[in-house]
Amino acid sequence: MSAEFSDERSEPRRLRVVVLLSGTGRTLENLINVRASGALAIDIVRVISTRKRVRGNDIARAADIPLTIVPRRKSESPSQFSEAVLAAIRQERPDLVLMAGFLSKIAISPDLVGRVMNIHPALLPMFGGQGHYGQHVHEQVLAAGVKVTGCTVHFVDDEYDAGPIIAQACVPVHDDDDVDSLAARVFAQERELYPHAIRLFAEDRLRIDGSLVRVLPPG
Ligand code: GRF
Repeated sequence: MSAEFSDERSEPRRLRVVVLLSGTGRTLENLINVRASGALAIDIVRVISTRKRVRGNDIARAADIPLTIVPRRKSESPSQFSEAVLAAIRQERPDLVLMAGFLSKIAISPDLVGRVMNIHPALLPMFGGQGHYGQHVHEQVLAAGVKVTGCTVHFVDDEYDAGPIIAQACVPVHDDDDVDSLAARVFAQERELYPHAIRLFAEDRLRIDGSLVRVLPPG
């Protein structure tokens, strides 16, 4: 961990976490690795995937994490899909739900407000919203000619990439970057930022105040 993200902290409680994914599962893999290193006190009690054949499912299986697949395409409607995901989440009674490359929208019910996080590969509210995912985000960042980008962890509401922001990290955009080099630099920051935000939650240091998340000091 970089010094920037290694907070002084009291012993965090162990969280029951459900991870939602749709793709390659690098975020899940990172969470598993950070947990194994002892730097993240979470139990990933279930992975819910929206696709049958993605690498993320293999990562879950290899780590012996129970996996539920809720194929979005087979759902009759967006609301039926959302209900199916919510039902699978609720069965686990998680403390926290982590979107990890999850490409769908779910309706955040009152019991889940402030308990679902997402990580986005840009500095929200720029380069966010429907259609801003994966490599597209970095293409848009390069096309805009901005000099810094980064990643954002936020609580999820009913819109894409719109909920209150918990933490952000910046990376420079270099003149000779392409999508791959920029994506790699951003993802290196994501590996630290998501565990950092999860620790803040575990330490009960996050308070939603309207559109703002206040981060309480340690202890
Ligand atoms: C990252 O860009 C992250 O910001 C976004 O999904 C990508 C990671 O996907 N939420 P995955 O974990 O490799 O499936």
